[in-house]
Amino acid sequence: MKRIEFQTHTITTVDEGNGRPLLFVHGFPLDHSMWRAQIDWFAGEFRVIAPDLRGFGESFPADAPLPTSISMKAFADDLVILLDELCVTEPVVYCGLSMGGYIGWQFVRHYSERVHSLIMCDTKAEADSPEVARARHFMADGVVEAGTPLATRGMLERLVSPKTVESSKDIASRLQAIIDATEPTAVAAAQRGMAERPDSCNLLPLIDAPTLFICGDEDQITPPAEMEKMVSEMPDARLKIIQDAGHMPPMEQPESTNRVIAEFLERD
Ligand code: MLT
Repeated sequence: MKRIEFQTHTITTVDEGNGRPLLFVHGFPLDHSMWRAQIDWFAGEFRVIAPDLRGFGESFPADAPLPTSISMKAFADDLVILLDELCVTEPVVYCGLSMGGYIGWQFVRHYSERVHSLIMCDTKAEADSPEVARARHFMADGVVEAGTPLATRGMLERLVSPKTVESSKDIASRLQAIIDATEPTAVAAAQRGMAERPDSCNLLPLIDAPTLFICGDEDQITPPAEMEKMVSEMPDARLKIIQDAGHMPPMEQPESTNRVIAEFLERD
């Protein structure tokens, strides 16, 4: 792992392999290790960069207290600074899952010249409804007092398919361990940032970068139908459904996920 010093914080990142840069951006409330199977598979042929976003994983503790809210744009800004620090000037294949996808829309909106192509896993372009945004603020207000494990209780069952919980206990427990280790202040700041994120639907028809959407067939958070809608609104997009996966295909079905990513990378 490399540590990159920013003005107010430090970002820790995987930077392995050589070749076209492939940037993996994790979901909430996780860290880079959700991409372990992709890092191992693709670092043979690509330069794989997989950071822990500000406040998450080993990018905590911050040198200064985390802001109470971190916008998706601020996370995208961090990624650009990170790429600059790593001397990555070539446009990247941006691969984000869920919150990593929300950040991806901001990355494309503000830094389209840094994007070669997009892989958007289990994510959406719509902003939150007022009810969802309220629930996020409620969790953000409570998590610092209650601690992450209490505030995120029940999240695991929504992240993975029932089959994964049943048959892949190691994946479920790995995920639970990452969630529980996440700092309450990072959970709160990202929740507020997601609640306040802008709607990105109007951006979709303007994105001409080749785009692959990936979705678990049993994803309850961003179901396949929601992703099909985004595909139909973009000029150069396709969707691959991963069987027997919920919201986390890269961890639940790493082989099938890696295959569809590899197929896309060969084509584009
Ligand atoms: C994620 O996996 O990043 C979260 O489900 C995003 C969200 O809470 O909307």
